Amino acid sequence: MDVLELIEEAYEAKKNSYAPYSNFHVGAALLAEDGTVYRGCNIENAAYSPTNCAERTAFFKAVSEGARTFSAIAITGDPKAYVAPCGVCRQVMAEFCDLKNFRIVLAKTKTDYQVYTLEELLPKAFTPESL
Ligand code: THU
Repeated sequence: MDVLELIEEAYEAKKNSYAPYSNFHVGAALLAEDGTVYRGCNIENAAYSPTNCAERTAFFKAVSEGARTFSAIAITGDPKAYVAPCGVCRQVMAEFCDLKNFRIVLAKTKTDYQVYTLEELLPKAFTPESL
């Protein structure tokens, strides 16, 4: 799967975003190493703190289905911007993903995007190897 297809999946995921409080809709598409794509959206809550980001929704769906190794995630937000994952989501990524090889695609539009490694967005990460 190429990067534009993964971005398209993130746009599809965003359609299910439940964000009545922030009106900030986010979609994510997580590519597992076996080629499976797991979609995630942000899911807000009237009590605010139970809110789950799109990225973590995608990761938790994937891990709960047995996936453990991942190559990339595409993220798209609305309004249009390069939406970077929050610190909590970066830490979840560090649990399962190789810092140097996992790619994080920030899609401002379906064709305008930036790509970072997890290491670039989470330097000096605390990982399972740290224990
Ligand atoms: N949000 C995400 O889903 N992913 C991000 O990378 C940033 C923030 C969500 C959480 C909340 O529902 C809304 O965006 C505003 O913070």
